[in-house]
Amino acid sequence: MAAPTVSKDLDGWFASNDKRIHDELFEFLRIPSVSASSAHDKDTLAAAAWLHQKLAAIGFTVETCPTAGHPVVVAEWRKAPAGAPTVLVYGHYDVQPPEPLDLWTTPAFEPTIRDGKLFARGSVDDKGQLWVHVKALEAHLAVRGTLPCNIIVVAEGEEEIGSEHLAQFIAQHAARLACDAVVISDSSMFAPGIPSILSSLRGLAYFEINVQGPSGDLHSGMYGGAVVNPAMALAHILSTFHDKKGRIAIKGFYDKVLPFPRAVLAGMKKLPHNDTRFKREVGVKALGGEEGKTTLEKLWTRPTLEVNGMLSGYTGEGAKTVLPAKSMAKVSCRLVPDQDPKVIEKLLKAHVKKVTPAGVTVTVEALHGGHPWRADLAGKIFDAATVALHAAFGKKPVIQGEGGSIPVVVDFQKILKVPVLLVGFGLPGENAHAPDEWISVDNFRRGLRAIATLWDEYTK
Ligand code: BES
Ligand code: ZN
Repeated sequence: MAAPTVSKDLDGWFASNDKRIHDELFEFLRIPSVSASSAHDKDTLAAAAWLHQKLAAIGFTVETCPTAGHPVVVAEWRKAPAGAPTVLVYGHYDVQPPEPLDLWTTPAFEPTIRDGKLFARGSVDDKGQLWVHVKALEAHLAVRGTLPCNIIVVAEGEEEIGSEHLAQFIAQHAARLACDAVVISDSSMFAPGIPSILSSLRGLAYFEINVQGPSGDLHSGMYGGAVVNPAMALAHILSTFHDKKGRIAIKGFYDKVLPFPRAVLAGMKKLPHNDTRFKREVGVKALGGEEGKTTLEKLWTRPTLEVNGMLSGYTGEGAKTVLPAKSMAKVSCRLVPDQDPKVIEKLLKAHVKKVTPAGVTVTVEALHGGHPWRADLAGKIFDAATVALHAAFGKKPVIQGEGGSIPVVVDFQKILKVPVLLVGFGLPGENAHAPDEWISVDNFRRGLRAIATLWDEYTK
């Protein structure tokens, strides 16, 4: 069979509208919709309003639905021929905080293209990828005056802070959101030129650990040696989380971990991963983690416990002799099927209680969580995506796992009872959540064509 191609009418429309598509994306990226920061609440609302207006302008019926947090933008187009399927497209218009600002080559909210990379906070995660979907829909409507399937776009503003209100929103609006498949572009390809379809995501359980010692900071000479130091107590607690083989030493932590299907593991071995390149990409000389596992196994199929940040005592210039009164760490566990964030919370709390030294009080607070997910990968939407990616990238997609989390994926699958297709256009090294986040302009352009082709293939 000849290799599939992108249909000429859509490809031509993308080519002649390329500048406008980019200009509009720049507008979207200039809105600092940082969901974690209440100082940016106005901007987060502005991003929702901007998106609302753009979706309305291409012919969708749009509603911005308030939640207890940031609103959900729901846009519907339901004029497909009778019997046509309905697809729900999900994305998020919120972004991660841009800090540390001084490490950006150009400012986070002033999009700039250098060497084929579009730099800006949200360029890849997820405004750029959401924009791929909006413009692919516009292409169909502009060129053909119609879409081959009904489409519901759901864009939320709380993904980067745990999608706290979205599961409830989906459950409350389940009838309206009823569909045949969910499609999400909020992930990355395996490598440049190698498109991929995701077969799994890890879940998440995120905690804050606070250690309280003396009632105030103390002179480290007058009191040090006799009073338990909260910074050292925290270091001790953290040091008990792993054993010498890199496994997590919390009792019961692995009890619910299921083996990965053999076909998935076999497929993983065939992917062109290279540890030397991987080390170079992240800038380290050696890798860590569980003994006896390959890097891809560690990233996609195994749970973790990581320290995300720590705070204690004097961290200013020069030396100050002080025994700090308290210390704090942000700790998160990535989870794999069938681990449950609530159970992990209980196990972690019991462990911390057991290893806390006398002389300090420790509290563990669960901040947010999400369940791990595994795809079925059977059905028309996956076949259609395979052809569409092949057409746009000139190469069949690989099936890959993913170490990150999109908690709402499980909610969609459970509540709407439909398959979820995850097909993303980011790349390794794209700096998501970090300074100098970027999306490849070439991937963005191919992504537009892939998604536009997806709707044709899905309804063939
Ligand atoms: N887009 C990411 C998830 C992701 C990252 C998927 C890399 C595939 C590859 C998403 O926006 C994200 O960062 N999620 C958070 C979830 C959390 C805040 C609940 C994550 O994984 O840390
Ligand atoms: Zn993210």
